[in-house]
Amino acid sequence: MGERFDAAVVGAGAAGMMTAAVAAQRGLRVVLVDHAERLAEKIRISGGGRCNFTNLGASPAQFLSRNPDFCRSALRAYGPGDFLDLLRTHRVSWHEKHRGQLFCDDSSESVIRVLRRECEAGGVHWRMPCTVRDVGRDADGFRLDTDAGPIRAARLVLATGGMAIPQLGATDFSLRIARQFGLRIVEPRPALVPLTFDADLWRPYAALAGVSLEVRLSHQAPAAEGGGQRARRPACAEFLEDLLFTHRGLSGPGILQISSHWRPGDPIRIDLAPGRDMGSALVAAKSGSRQTVAAALAQSWPRRLAEAWLGTAGETGGGDLAGLGGLRLADAPDRRLRALAERIHGWTLWPTGTAGYKKAEVMSGGVDTAELDQRSMESRRCPGLHVVGEAVDVTGWLGGYNFQWAWSSGVACGRALVAG
Ligand code: FDA
Repeated sequence: MGERFDAAVVGAGAAGMMTAAVAAQRGLRVVLVDHAERLAEKIRISGGGRCNFTNLGASPAQFLSRNPDFCRSALRAYGPGDFLDLLRTHRVSWHEKHRGQLFCDDSSESVIRVLRRECEAGGVHWRMPCTVRDVGRDADGFRLDTDAGPIRAARLVLATGGMAIPQLGATDFSLRIARQFGLRIVEPRPALVPLTFDADLWRPYAALAGVSLEVRLSHQAPAAEGGGQRARRPACAEFLEDLLFTHRGLSGPGILQISSHWRPGDPIRIDLAPGRDMGSALVAAKSGSRQTVAAALAQSWPRRLAEAWLGTAGETGGGDLAGLGGLRLADAPDRRLRALAERIHGWTLWPTGTAGYKKAEVMSGGVDTAELDQRSMESRRCPGLHVVGEAVDVTGWLGGYNFQWAWSSGVACGRALVAG
């Protein structure tokens, strides 16, 4: 038969613990099942160990989904201010780092502790580490066949997150079970992930590994993109953020942001000197200058970048830029300096791939929001089945938005379990 619960939540991460705590504190008998040895590893490693747990500016505008409005009601019902109230209750302090991103003063452990205590306050039952081998459903509700024995539950919540960082135990469990019950899935992909390039093309830049600078990145979805799965990204995305050169390609916050919009075959465009008019600046600096073009560029850029990028641009950029870096600025024709500036402001690159789930911060795609009620996260097709957190086709930008979605969807689901 198996032990009976009102709700079984599979996945004791950010969204799962929140769901379980909210439902259990309102009187439900809840079991939380997770296969990991250690609780909430992704919270632990997040934000460099300090967990960027929300963003003060969180709104539907920072989420990608086939239905960008889906997250609206959950965010409105439980926003960043509500999570801050919860942290205050537990005397956890935080600070703002960059553009509304909030981090723990202490460590991510404090967020895990808060969620664990909230679960304990509701008397949540734990099955951990515990593997769910099979899930079935009959007139009596859901039946979970686990290696800690059978579990029966009137409602089942899929909260196992996405497939990013499989080395930490990430799996496609929620997607598999959702599919088993007939729910549609928006094709999952690694997101917030470094982009990689053809090894030959990248060779001249590989020596720049470690160089970082602020740039403006943009991505334009192909004009032909109409309906279907690809319509889940906006036509144009732009970010002013840091870029980091790596041995295999590009990383850093700017690239992670743009990667969620990028699809194989698309170009990305990088303005390497945002907010400046490099053409006019180089031409104006000519008079009486004894320095080379490369040295002049190195005044605004890391020197390594100026030299390597100019050399490569010369080689690959056709006759107009070839040899320009070594020329004295005073001798360089205005026309060639302006052509160089044009390339600096609009460096167009064709990535060949991403660094994959092993390096991704999140998975984008997931259970199609059209399958779920946005207030309860419950399946329309399979009543009693709920999906929360990253397993849903709602992907936040970098900067605390993904945790906010985990909290908001978890609270929406937890409250609905009680009402339902
Ligand atoms: P989450 O991944 O938190 O939890 C899923 C749980 O399910 C895990 O405990 C796992 O063990 C369990 N599980 C998986 N498969 C299972 C199975 N088959 N059976 C049983 N249990 C299973 N976001 C943000 O907003 N700010 C940040 O600073 C960061 N930083 C960051 C750094 C790194 C390195 C990564 C990889 C990710 C981030 N993120 C982030 C993203 C954030 O961690 C992520 O979006 C949320 O943790 C998602 O919450 P969920 O509860 O949906 O999944």
